Amino acid sequence: MIFGATGGVGEALARHIHAAGKNLVITGRDEAALTSLANETGARQIAGDVTREDDLQRIVNEASGDDGVAGLAFCVGSIDLKPLRRTKAQDFADAFHLNAVSAALAVQHAAPALKKAKGSVVLFSSIAVEQGFTNHAIVSAAKGAVEGLGRALAADLAPDVRVNIVAPSLMDTKMAAPITQSEAMAQGIAKLHPIPRLGSPVDAASLAAFLLSDQSGWMTGQVLRVDGGRSHLRTKG
Ligand SMILES: NC(=O)c1ccc[n+]([C@@H]2O[C@H](COP(=O)([O-])OP(=O)(O)OC[C@H]3O[C@@H](n4cnc5c(N)ncnc54)[C@H](OP(=O)(O)O)[C@@H]3O)[C@@H](O)[C@H]2O)c1
Repeated sequence: MIFGATGGVGEALARHIHAAGKNLVITGRDEAALTSLANETGARQIAGDVTREDDLQRIVNEASGDDGVAGLAFCVGSIDLKPLRRTKAQDFADAFHLNAVSAALAVQHAAPALKKAKGSVVLFSSIAVEQGFTNHAIVSAAKGAVEGLGRALAADLAPDVRVNIVAPSLMDTKMAAPITQSEAMAQGIAKLHPIPRLGSPVDAASLAAFLLSDQSGWMTGQVLRVDGGRSHLRTKG
């Protein structure tokens, strides 16, 4: 079950899961984009807004079959970058709601179905939790909450359900478009990574697919950084 399946990572993950021959449920707000991906992957589509709890409940109810839910990836998120002096309380509240509260409620509603299938959950954080960047106060606060949430959920749901968190650096998706649409800026940021390129959605989706699969069956409560080495290495200066 993929939330945010019409986004860069969600779509790459949907293709990966489809190629592995699994049943797939895809969700997002954009019906046309969902239909296009459903036609390609044979997935079942359920539209809804994750910030509305009635939508979340309906999506989870419709997606949970008799066998439960074997995997849930919450690929929804936001990146609201602005100087600290221009941030408003509402910016923090909106980012917290979309990234952390909606993820928490999605897992809460899906917990019985996840337990039934001994499922696995993947949430998405950001490199901006491990490392501080200018203009990132809103997203860093929200994604820091996601990392804490993921560990707490992993404890709450053990041993039946595993919960892990993927923390990417900048990837070439529509979310990053305001930053990457300048070729000069994209190249400049790419060079800051010890592996000197921007991430692709497949980089994060491959890791998520591994965490959803039985191959990671003894991993839970972990934050895994897929970031070209940027959060932990310095290769220049
Ligand atoms: N891209 C990056 O550089 C980057 C870096 C660090 C972390 N991340 C995190 O990685 C994850 C995947 O990011 P991405 O780059 O694939 O993002 P993306 O391309 O912008 O996709 C985001 C997805 O979330 C969905 N979405 C947004 N708001 C929603 C809402 N209220 N209700 C339902 N669906 C909603 C969007 O669907 P619709 O808008 O079509 O409804 C879309 O499918 C996110 O958690 C993001 O924060 C991304």
